[in-house]
Amino acid sequence: MSNPAFADIDACVFDAYGTLFDVHSAVRRGGAALGDKADAVSALWRQKQLEYTWLRSLMDTHVDFWQVTSEGLDYALIASGVEDSGLHAQLMDLYLSLDAYPDVTDALTRLRAGGKKTAILSNGAPKMLDAAVASAGLTDLLDEALSVEDVGIYKPDRRVYQIAVERLSTTPERICFVSTNAWDASGAAHFGFRVAWMNRFGKIPERLPGKLSATMESLNELPPLLGL
Ligand code: LAC
Repeated sequence: MSNPAFADIDACVFDAYGTLFDVHSAVRRGGAALGDKADAVSALWRQKQLEYTWLRSLMDTHVDFWQVTSEGLDYALIASGVEDSGLHAQLMDLYLSLDAYPDVTDALTRLRAGGKKTAILSNGAPKMLDAAVASAGLTDLLDEALSVEDVGIYKPDRRVYQIAVERLSTTPERICFVSTNAWDASGAAHFGFRVAWMNRFGKIPERLPGKLSATMESLNELPPLLGL
């Protein structure tokens, strides 16, 4: 059902990792050697990757998401008692061809058919985003794949969200931002986007500033929210 908060939307801007791409598909496909530690390694890898983005932003020591992702994986493997440089390299390589969630292609197709621009706005380095988008067959369904590398700091810094406003030539309240990461959803709403939180994992909202306009359980709910 359409939601008045999304009545005047020009563009839908998506977070990449966790929202369009399943970050756990790397370990699922290449982590057999981890045995029963696989899920724990994948979860710790993601946790450390995100923590390092926040900490490096606070420390003013930015490096790109490829390095942060590699260092997060290092931590997760060593913490789990695994030191295997071949496995590390293989899992990093798989990060360039993560599975897209099954609801992604249809939602993007319907948004484009309804005249909305579509874009990614992600921590990912440009080479990571380009590879993941191409591998998932999404190139023709996205107008832009925007990276924090344009401003050299990570989400939820306001300068990151401002990239989308400038590159899509619109205003924050005409952008519908979609993220599974509740902290990113809060940051984007606090910046001024209209936010539809894609709650894939049945989490509760963060206790952070920023008012979410809608919560979804599947991207299939997004076109109807926009009246499409
Ligand atoms: C991204 C992380 C937050 O894609 O998932 O920006």
